[in-house]
Amino acid sequence: MGWLSGFESICQADVPLADCTWYRLGGPARWVLEPHDEPQLAALLCRLRDEQIPWRILGRGANVLVRDEGFPGAVIRLRGPCFEEISIEEDGVIAAAGVDFPHLIRQTLEAGRCGLEVLAGIPGSLGGVIRMNAGGRYGEISRFVEQVSLVDSSGNLFTRRAAELSFRYRHAELNGAVALGARLRLPAGDRQAALDRYREIWQEKSGNQPPLAARSAGCIFKNPAQQSAGRLLDAAGLKGVRIGSAEISTRHANFILAHPGARAAHVLDLIALARDRVWNLNGIKLELEIDIW
Ligand code: EPU
Repeated sequence: MGWLSGFESICQADVPLADCTWYRLGGPARWVLEPHDEPQLAALLCRLRDEQIPWRILGRGANVLVRDEGFPGAVIRLRGPCFEEISIEEDGVIAAAGVDFPHLIRQTLEAGRCGLEVLAGIPGSLGGVIRMNAGGRYGEISRFVEQVSLVDSSGNLFTRRAAELSFRYRHAELNGAVALGARLRLPAGDRQAALDRYREIWQEKSGNQPPLAARSAGCIFKNPAQQSAGRLLDAAGLKGVRIGSAEISTRHANFILAHPGARAAHVLDLIALARDRVWNLNGIKLELEIDIW
């Protein structure tokens, strides 16, 4: 049975990744595996290392563009009870990496644990949100992280305190390890005020970004120091520019939308065009915020 021996029951072959991402673009994964628990995930990572098979963790697919060729290795999804557990504590929450982040925000607010309202409108899994230190105008997840549990590519389980993860803008230093869950510090507070703030931020975002239902991966580029990538792209006249069926949003120029018939290649070509345009006009090299597989 080759490298998969013992993992057959949690593995599917040739799975279209377009079904698993917000963009709904791109080709298949050679294998998709959904381990049941942490020990099985650790064993799987060991096997992949021994067999030298490339792998990726796919969260909720909110920040990923899969190429039309697909991914020629193993894609691991952290789903099911063990990876989607939430436990509300006196002054925070312990949540597993596979938890849907918007769901986590709502659960903590409903329970009167305050803080995550400032991250309203950020899609993805908690693991993905931590890995990229997701955030926006009102804060980043790092502000709430106390500690993170992880597994490395040799299958070792360990925890790191927030200070050891060198969080910075859209980055956490996980050194190739996989986040399994985190303890977030969220003091009990004024539940109604937090819910109101959550709605307010949602509305603000809906006013100046494409709707979450549109096919995109959120902001394509990171903001360069002291600048807004969206503003630079807008000033470069890129709003509404199309290649094939992909289009730079007319509402916020740091979003590229996929319309019916779009291919990942259209988005990639628009990314290259936008980068060139900003480089030629401003001498600024925009860095990708999204992951391209
Ligand atoms: N702007 C333009 N034209 C545009 C877009 C923006 O002129 O097409 C201007 C705005 O008017 C504003 C400034 O640029 O004066 C900043 O825009 P915005 O408030 O939309 O914030 P941003 O820096 O573009 C960041 C995050 C977003 C997050 C928002 C709001 C990055 C790359 N982007 O956007 O995050 O939602 O703040 O909190 O850090 C994401 O990470 O995927 C994402 C969308």
